[in-house]
Amino acid sequence: MTATEKAGTRVGAFPQDRTCPYEPPAGYREVAGAGPISRVALYDGREVWAISGHAEARRLLADPRLSTDRRNPAFPATTEAIGRVRTRFTPPLVGVDDPVHKVQRGMLISSFTHRRISDLRPRIRETAERVLGSLIATGAPADLVTAFAQPLPSMVMCHLLGVPYEDHDYFEERTTRMLSGENPAIAMGELRTYLLDLAGPNRHRLNEGLFGDLVSAPEGEVGREDLVDLTIVILGAGFETTASMLSLGIFTLLDNPERLAELRADPALWPAAAEELLRYLAITDGITRVATEDIEVAGRTIGKDDGIIFLTSVLNRHDEVRDRPDVLDWHRPTRNHVAFGFGAHQCLGQNLARAILEIALQSLFERLPDLRLATAAAEIPFKPGAAVQGLVQLPVTW
Ligand code: HEM
Repeated sequence: MTATEKAGTRVGAFPQDRTCPYEPPAGYREVAGAGPISRVALYDGREVWAISGHAEARRLLADPRLSTDRRNPAFPATTEAIGRVRTRFTPPLVGVDDPVHKVQRGMLISSFTHRRISDLRPRIRETAERVLGSLIATGAPADLVTAFAQPLPSMVMCHLLGVPYEDHDYFEERTTRMLSGENPAIAMGELRTYLLDLAGPNRHRLNEGLFGDLVSAPEGEVGREDLVDLTIVILGAGFETTASMLSLGIFTLLDNPERLAELRADPALWPAAAEELLRYLAITDGITRVATEDIEVAGRTIGKDDGIIFLTSVLNRHDEVRDRPDVLDWHRPTRNHVAFGFGAHQCLGQNLARAILEIALQSLFERLPDLRLATAAAEIPFKPGAAVQGLVQLPVTW
């Protein structure tokens, strides 16, 4: 859908669907061309500010006058389904502001340090090999979304949290349903019951990990139920994003064989390639906030209770981020991309996400040197603009 100008507002519902799964929607480019900050309309006609200027986005995302509290009726909903639950519930961590946010983030930070993630790398490699082993045993053709991109992060998350490995099927099934199923509330309820049980009567089954650390700390201001909710938020934030990045990353490489050939020739390029894919694909395309006070930006005034949407895909294609930003290229440094957001809520799991991406993509392309799409690239179904950007299916053969 192309945005058109009408009385200073660009109409055409935002967020918009991509036409190529790894390119920003045409309407976002049009908005970016009009200046760093514009008025756009959401699906329900409500107007919000779209931020497409890189410096303005970073300044705003770091501004404490922007709130992420979904209970504020002014918080922008990007779909009808989100609108329905918006004012009843705000998730811990991602949906709270300081000072509560700082306390919750402080409880988790030690599980995501460079050192903790480096210690996890051998386990990630082992897990990638195991998932690839069963993919190869089942044989071609296969759907890499369900046979690789989803199970791998789910198993790594089990390990990170300390959830018993033998429960990973149960865990993955509930997490997938919670994020994209018909009735997410039921799946979330089942996960809560399961985790509460692991924190209580079934404590002996819990391995070392983030969830164990949380529930074995002396009970302070945060109760058991809140710790379970916090853990579910980490799952929600880490699972779909990483699975989507894997599916879309694999597709993008298969669709750009000359770039893939460079990586096959020089595997030392994989870390830079993972970072460049994060920038280029910008899968969380449409971070939202609400202003709690009037804020002046680029000669415009964002009013108190105005909604804001950050157009990550065009922000990451800004020439402040890198030279020739529309070219997928791991030979030049990338500066300050916002694929992981920016400011107080910047992705807590970014080191883990980088490690999974780098190891999973390298392992896949090494084990399956003849990997190719099993259908035309244009036929591969991908998710709508309001979701974390990724593929619905990735049919491949080898
Ligand atoms: C490629 C994969 C990933 C991408 C692209 C991604 C992206 C993001 C983005 C853009 C945000 C900021 C959202 C906002 O400002 O509203 C965020 C926050 C967050 N991410 Fe990630 N993420 C990824 C993987 C992970 C993983 C693996 C974990 C954990 C296991 C994780 C945990 C979190 C958490 C807990 C937050 C909320 C932080 C806070 O509110 O303080 N993410 N992520």
